[in-house]
Amino acid sequence: MIGKFIVFEGVEGGGKTTQIELLRDWLLGKEEWRQVLSKSINLEVVITREPGGTKLGKALRELLLSSDILPEKIQETSELLLYAADRAQHVEALIKPCLERGAIVLCDRFINSTIAYQGYGHGLDLELIQQLNYIATGGLKSDLTFWLDLDVEIGLARARSRGNFDKMEQANIEFHRRVQQGYQELAKNNYSIVRIDANFTRKKVQQQIQEIIMQKLVEWRYT
Ligand SMILES: Nc1ncnc2c1ncn2[C@@H]1O[C@H](COP(=O)(O)OP(=O)(O)OP(=O)(O)O)[C@@H](O)[C@H]1O
Ligand SMILES: [Mg+2]
Repeated sequence: MIGKFIVFEGVEGGGKTTQIELLRDWLLGKEEWRQVLSKSINLEVVITREPGGTKLGKALRELLLSSDILPEKIQETSELLLYAADRAQHVEALIKPCLERGAIVLCDRFINSTIAYQGYGHGLDLELIQQLNYIATGGLKSDLTFWLDLDVEIGLARARSRGNFDKMEQANIEFHRRVQQGYQELAKNNYSIVRIDANFTRKKVQQQIQEIIMQKLVEWRYT
């Protein structure tokens, strides 16, 4: 596939949405990238997210994250499968077609979120999650994954300052600490995950991301 698939991961309020938007603007605004970018990479940047990147995904997101839409607790295994359904639809209907036409896809959360939240957070079987992730993605991997590493309490405080928090944001702090530990383990064992220190200002975080992207764009040009 000729496009590039860049994923942003991390705990609630880590700055994923903020940084994805800043990265899109920066990529689109820089004329010099036309020289750096491979001819096959268009300057089309698509922002998407999980859950919720497709119409089905939006409906699933409502079910999964809105506190008041479903008067029933979604069981952990059902939740896992709903996330997988969102992902399968997302990969086939949106991500792959974008990559096939050469777009840069910036995706807010992907397979590592399921490992961190459902695996480490809820304690569901990691092997099973890997298998489900494989089924949902058909083996599609990101070209680059940023992990915005921020202390859980700071992230939640930032997220809550936005107002009306979702189900994940309402989960207890111990859950979020396990999620954070999941990201730490994932980053340790996976060289394609790049840790970004998200404790700094938006601008400083953005600079760290830009540096990595600059290196990657040059690398991708020759591969
Ligand atoms: N570096 C930063 N310093 C201080 N505040 C920030 C920083 N980056 C983002 N914020 C603010 O923190 C809040 C959370 O940021 P953002 O929504 O980008 O995080 P997120 O990772 O997308 O969160 P979620 O997982 O809940 O979607 C927002 O109000 C945002 O404006
Ligand atoms: Mg966000």
